[in-house]
This record gives sequence, C-alpha cells and structure tokens, in this order.
Amino acid sequence: MILVSLWDIKQVSMSIQHKDIAAIRQDYVLGSLSESDVDRNPVHQFKKWFDEAIHSEVIEPNAMVLSTVSSDQLPSSRVVLLKDIVAEGLVFFTNYESRKGEDMKANPHVAMLFFGLNYKGRSELKVLLIL
Ligand SMILES: Cc1cc2nc3c(=O)[nH]c(=O)nc-3n(C[C@H](O)[C@H](O)[C@H](O)COP(=O)(O)O)c2cc1C
Repeated sequence: MILVSLWDIKQVSMSIQHKDIAAIRQDYVLGSLSESDVDRNPVHQFKKWFDEAIHSEVIEPNAMVLSTVSSDQLPSSRVVLLKDIVAEGLVFFTNYESRKGEDMKANPHVAMLFFGLNYKGRSELKVLLIL
C-alpha cells in the first residue's frame, strides 16, 4: 500500500467513504499486445494509438502527465498537452523557466503518461529542448 499525504484530497472525499473509493473502478477490456503487432518505429506506433484514442471515448487524448526529475533527484509530475507528433518524437510547449523547464535542463530524461493510451505501454524519453 502506498500512503500519499495529499491533504487536499480530504476536502474532495469528505462525503465519500473509504470503502467506496476502493470500489471505484472501470472495467477495462484489454486486447493482447505482442511484439509482432507493434510498428518498429515508435513514432509511427504512437500515431496509430493516438488515432485510436481520438476515435474512441477518451477525454482529452492529447493530455499527458509529464514527469521530470530535478538536479537534486526530486521527481515531479504535471499535466501538459501534446501539440504535435513529428518524425523525431512528441512536441509540447512550456516555459523554460518553470520547474519542469529547470528540471529538463538539468536532466533531459522524462516520463510521459497518456492515460488513454498507456494501458498499452509506458514512455520513457529524452527531451530535446528547442529554443
Ligand atoms: C489540462 C491542462 C493542460 C495543461 N497544459 C500545459 C501545457 O501544455 N504546457 C505547460 O507548460 N503547462 C500546462 N498545464 C499546466 C501544468 O500542468 C503546470 O501546472 C504548469 O506548467 C507548472 O508546472 P511546473 O511548475 O511543474 O513546471 C496544463 C494544465 C492542465 C490542467
């Protein structure tokens, strides 16, 4: 069990019993995924999954959780929006002076999680900052 100290959550959940939270669950119908089904080019494969998400019931398929690690090894995550898919990878915009901007200057390794796509895999990427 992971106990996260998020005291804001108390306000949201005041009227919810703990057992009810545990009962909140979506039934996911997962297809199988084998290596032979996957395009060898990760950008092409991402495009296929992203197109599927656009044509499905996924809300805001372009929203992703971007996780960075600071120079003193502290992880942090936030939501950003995907702006483009190019041959080199995925494009998003942000302020380079923000916390994530500072983190990525110090450590270009990030993780991105697209909720609507990520039951199919996980992305651990290196960012290329474009000035
Ligand atoms: C739906 C949604 C979309 C967002 N899209 C972006 C985005 O594309 N780029 C961005 O820098 N911040 C975006 N934000 C704000 C970030 O989540 C974050 O609060 C902000 O960038 C500061 O993050 P940081 O202090 O960790 O750098 C978005 C927030 C939400 C809720």
